[in-house]
Amino acid sequence: MTTTALEDASAPPTAPGTEWWRTAVIYQIYPRSFADANGDGVGDLPGVTAHLDDLKILGIDAIWLSPFMTSPQRDAGYDVADYCDVDPLFGTLDDFDRMLQAAHARGIRVIVDLVPNHSSDQHAWFQAALAAGPGSPERARYLFRDGRGENGELPPNNWESVFGGPAWTRVTEADGRPGQWYLHLFDSSQPDFDWTNPEVRAEFRRILRFWLDRGVDGFRVDVAHGLMKAPGLPDYTPPADSGSMGGDETDVPYWGRPEVHDVYREWHELLAAYDGDRALCAEAWMPTIAQTALWVRPDEMHQAFNFPYLMSDWNAQTLRHVIDESLRTFAAVGAPSTWVLSNHDVVRHASRLALTAENPQGHGIGPNSPGKPIAELGLRRARAATTLMLALPGSAYLYQGEELGLPEVIDIPDDARQDPTWFRTGGERYGRDGCRVPLPWTADGPSYGFNTTGASWLPQPAEWAHLARDVEARDEASTLSLYTRLLAERRARALGAGSLVWMPDAGADVVAFRNGNVTVIANLGDRPVPLPAGRVIVSSEPLESDTVPRDVTVWIEAD
Ligand code: NOJ
Repeated sequence: MTTTALEDASAPPTAPGTEWWRTAVIYQIYPRSFADANGDGVGDLPGVTAHLDDLKILGIDAIWLSPFMTSPQRDAGYDVADYCDVDPLFGTLDDFDRMLQAAHARGIRVIVDLVPNHSSDQHAWFQAALAAGPGSPERARYLFRDGRGENGELPPNNWESVFGGPAWTRVTEADGRPGQWYLHLFDSSQPDFDWTNPEVRAEFRRILRFWLDRGVDGFRVDVAHGLMKAPGLPDYTPPADSGSMGGDETDVPYWGRPEVHDVYREWHELLAAYDGDRALCAEAWMPTIAQTALWVRPDEMHQAFNFPYLMSDWNAQTLRHVIDESLRTFAAVGAPSTWVLSNHDVVRHASRLALTAENPQGHGIGPNSPGKPIAELGLRRARAATTLMLALPGSAYLYQGEELGLPEVIDIPDDARQDPTWFRTGGERYGRDGCRVPLPWTADGPSYGFNTTGASWLPQPAEWAHLARDVEARDEASTLSLYTRLLAERRARALGAGSLVWMPDAGADVVAFRNGNVTVIANLGDRPVPLPAGRVIVSSEPLESDTVPRDVTVWIEAD
């Protein structure tokens, strides 16, 4: 076990303003689907350890692991029953320590997922709350309330679960009678904690210390905008078309309450007492960048996911605007901007950027979805979008498999779907399974090298052999080769620590800027645009003339 940051001599300096998280490229590992060492069909921590060299070659700085803690897996691990242990599906605490040490030995930082908004209903505290009955201190750790109506038969308010259906479930009391209701903003197996209770705050300080003492470099904080609820839990009806994790509304009684920031100020202090620039990254689905930036004020978290950037259409004007606003707004609070195009909750950007119909976040796409993407167009745009993103100053997040150009899997059979969204909406929303399909490592072999048995918790498409890592590693034109080149150049030219200067008069459909000695030009229009003078460092597609074709981004060495 280690309490120092990296054992590798490449550890960056820690002077204020140069902390690693300001410029890092952080690769999200979704452990269930990364690599499966024991062959049970679900990826695991030894699988991660076995492939760290591949990530080192790719050129990332850090990994973020989605939850691997003890969990009944009703929401793929975001339902935690024991925050300080590893679920046997993923291995043991020893496996975790070995993975952490192996990552650090390669100069790769490790961030783990922390899920503070809710626990699993199998958590010892929730089980104790059920047993202890109304009015008990055990129930006060969660949000139990009496129901409305003559006999308490109606939920305490009208809130809906993010995954569909009511956000309240009624319990049966010890005497066998229907009793109180508990709040769950997500699945009924995920009861929300009451964060006004000091016991909850103390418990999470203990959990943070547990992982910090093991040597983790930070936390990605799940639903960081949801911990506090408006006093009195007033009714609220979200707009019909709002995305699942946040929506566009302000003044939602359960998202972005001002009291939540005190929690992060406390955590900031707690992390600051450790060496090695430990960091907190907020998953806060707020509608604007200005609101998101509240999570990264100097005494709070260090990073927040830039979801407004992720949600932007493939449109030059939109992108120029969101990039500009991100850099300005995050800089105003002394934080780096982050950039992200894909994660385990959204349609993969190799498909999303070619969708032709509205697709609210969390709804997913399946066989009956309108406006299904054309695969070639989606991949071409995804490569251009990533080439643009990795030239931006700040920190960037990658989601496993995007470096292979994986598309969203659309044709998952109904009976293989796993996302609670699918069940809670009676199949109306497909949910997120399509971006969670296990990775292809080799063109041959069972489950494309995900394991040696062929078992896979979600079926892999029959046509994925050409997207396997071993095939792409041998192909200079592959998406993997493109990502590897981009990351090497980004590092060599210190683009993460750079600054952006817009190129004037580049054209309405073009995003063009300079960062250090690199000129970046992305053509989002229908017609080719002139290629600026200079040596081409990298291009998202091969160039056949001195123009930049549609849906292509080029990096050029500026004088
Ligand atoms: C956000 C996570 O990214 C998502 O996968 C999960 O379902 C919800 N939070 C609930 O924990």
